[in-house]
Amino acid sequence: MDDEAILSTRGLSVGYDSELVSGIDLEVFPGDIIGIIGSSGIGKTTILRTLAGLIPPFKGSLEHTLNGNGELGYIPQRLGLVRHASVEHNVALGARATARKPPEGTSVRQWKATVTHQAIKAMGLTDKTREPVRRLSGGQQRRTATARTLAQRPRVILADEFLSELDAENVEMVFGAIHRLVREDASALVVVEHNVERAFKYCTRVLEVRDGRMHPLLHPLQGGDEE
Ligand SMILES: Nc1ncnc2c1ncn2[C@@H]1O[C@H](COP(=O)(O)OP(=O)(O)OP(=O)(O)O)[C@@H](O)[C@H]1O
Ligand SMILES: [Mg+2]
Repeated sequence: MDDEAILSTRGLSVGYDSELVSGIDLEVFPGDIIGIIGSSGIGKTTILRTLAGLIPPFKGSLEHTLNGNGELGYIPQRLGLVRHASVEHNVALGARATARKPPEGTSVRQWKATVTHQAIKAMGLTDKTREPVRRLSGGQQRRTATARTLAQRPRVILADEFLSELDAENVEMVFGAIHRLVREDASALVVVEHNVERAFKYCTRVLEVRDGRMHPLLHPLQGGDEE
């Protein structure tokens, strides 16, 4: 196992016209599941978009060890699905973007179709395979976006509130699939999550954005009474 950071930042500031969050020193290692919480408008999405390379750092450095775009999966807060197209079409876009190679003896086309249908199944959407995305519920659309990323199998997933609108059972299913992926592929997940309980339940580390800084957050029940 390599324990080189997949993503790392040093003194990173993010923002558009002015600094929103500064002094971000973050290292994302294989197997990490990092939750980012904080109030609305504080800059969580801006952090993710900067980590994804969609907007330039305001200041400081951002480094990654990724080979090409296929190794980075981004699930935007507004999902970025092709709404008139089917679930299958949207998930296949993930399979098409992958940087991975099919097992020997399997054609690329066949392998991508298999990967697509596995991801749809993992998200409990098999009966919606041919349904246009615009006809799905909010939670089903979020699961479609997650399936697209599962099919892509990136080395790091940056997910922006991808669990909102899901009930507990679906959160369990989606996170179960993500956990498996992270374990099997030694990939990592950075997830913006507004539900603090959930962040602590599913993440290996939780960071809170507050007062323009990112602070490590201890579990409320651990409250510093250890050590
Ligand atoms: N494209 C943009 N250009 C300029 N400012 C922007 C842009 N997008 C967002 N902002 C501003 O940056 C600030 C942080 O927005 P951001 O979307 O990062 O917040 P957030 O923490 O993700 O909030 P929420 O929890 O509501 O999603 C806001 O004040 C917003 O108005
Ligand atoms: Mg946001």
